Amino acid sequence: MVRLSRRTILLAGSAWAFAGVGECNVSTQTTARPSLPIPPELRADAAGSIKLEAQTGTMRFLGDRETATYGVNGPYLGPALRLRRGETVTVQVTNSVPENITMHWHGLIIPGAADGGPHQVIAPGKSWRTQLSIDQPAATLWFHPHYYPSTAQEVIKGLAGLLIVDDEEVGRLPLPSRWGVDDIPLIIQDRRFTPDGQFFDRMNAIAVTNGYVGDIALVNGARYPEARTARGWIRLRILNGSNARGYKLSVSDNRSFYVIASDGGLLASPVELKELPIHAGERFEMLIDGRDGRAFDVVTLPVAQDIMRLPPFDGPLPLVTIRPDGADGTGRLPSSLLVLPALPRQLPPLSQELVMNMFRDTRGMMPLKQAGLPAMIRSGKTDPAVVARVVNLIVSDSALSEAEQLSSNGVNRKPFSLERIDFSAARNKGLRWRISEGPDLMPHPVHIHGCQFRIISRNGKPPEPERAGWKDVAPISNGGVSEILVRFPYSASRDDHYMAHCHILEHEDSGMMAQFTVP
Ligand code: C2O
Ligand code: CU
Ligand code: CU
Repeated sequence: MVRLSRRTILLAGSAWAFAGVGECNVSTQTTARPSLPIPPELRADAAGSIKLEAQTGTMRFLGDRETATYGVNGPYLGPALRLRRGETVTVQVTNSVPENITMHWHGLIIPGAADGGPHQVIAPGKSWRTQLSIDQPAATLWFHPHYYPSTAQEVIKGLAGLLIVDDEEVGRLPLPSRWGVDDIPLIIQDRRFTPDGQFFDRMNAIAVTNGYVGDIALVNGARYPEARTARGWIRLRILNGSNARGYKLSVSDNRSFYVIASDGGLLASPVELKELPIHAGERFEMLIDGRDGRAFDVVTLPVAQDIMRLPPFDGPLPLVTIRPDGADGTGRLPSSLLVLPALPRQLPPLSQELVMNMFRDTRGMMPLKQAGLPAMIRSGKTDPAVVARVVNLIVSDSALSEAEQLSSNGVNRKPFSLERIDFSAARNKGLRWRISEGPDLMPHPVHIHGCQFRIISRNGKPPEPERAGWKDVAPISNGGVSEILVRFPYSASRDDHYMAHCHILEHEDSGMMAQFTVP
């Protein structure tokens, strides 16, 4: 990978000025920096209950301008729920925002009735109570609304939070686990703001095809913040909580990091990497050696998708600084983590295909081509005139009618319908599914409710080692095909279906979702 000098980082930082939001002479050395907000942990009370409230608020992401936001128990994002394997909690979600929401526990293996999918609507002023019985390995999961068809804009406003499952096995490992000290949550999102400082959000042809394209990176709701941590091994729990954007994470001084967990829990052993692609909805936990006490940035490098390489994402962009200069840390990197069940040598027959379809992608891609975007990306040089034309398409192309929006994308040739059951899946049986995409070359991080699965193969090859453990998102792109082995331990009835969908929320909200029952 490219070696990132301090200078490169300053240059990448200054690219923010290009985004038109000004006042960002950030530097890793001198200027006062926001400190990384750490979401407060929230455990069940003595009676086993947890109360969440979706509420409105305001934030100053841009320094001088107030942005209207949504949050959970706060103005933006939410607390980190901490649940233990074996525990049963009652969660009450109160909706104090002025629109219908639901609350979905992404990655939690629970019956359909508790899942918080599009059918479990919480009207404004109402509450929803559900029981969650936790029976799965320790993992970094998350929660977010799932109301159809406005999940994308509700998440943009700030409705999302972490949900961490703990268990005895992870507790026995010597991993850094002091919250906010050497166990650091990072929720990475991109946003774009209107000139008056509000979140930009528009479901036009560009968005339903390409997904949301922000020009500012936020980490836990802050721009390029700094975290002061223990001096020692640092654990980063990373959620790509962006609507659509994928990142390619790296460390500014080129030090290695060690991936220890994927979506659904620990890997068998740490995977040493210098670069890690992370798609929308995915989580990874990694350990970084900060024993030398020297600060480093977590950086994102340009990804393959043309429109996601608009500035400031056209070069290495620092997301957060980690300054490990506090008291000595106590955690360390074990050489092995967990015994993962081996995939069966005899795989079950293929029982389900999920093909992600785009019905209007030409309408969302052609204007980009005409604006010169693919040519600019191929040239390797950022051209402000092309960038301006593309940004103009993103912000000015008019919104689709709801009928057009809902018929733009689909799964297995059909746009999503709340009224139709697309298929049913056998309960408590290992199932082999095949996930692929039509002829569009867009990335589709496909997510399935009610399970954690294993990726058997990606484009005919074994998955990357960091995706060989428990997963609930299978990324495909470039005509890709993935096969997975999945099991649904609980039932989902016809009123409480599970969902299978692309986690690019603009795709999901425009039809790229299917629903299924588990008898
Ligand atoms: Cu994270 Cu169906 O969602
Ligand atoms: Cu989910
Ligand atoms: Cu998609």
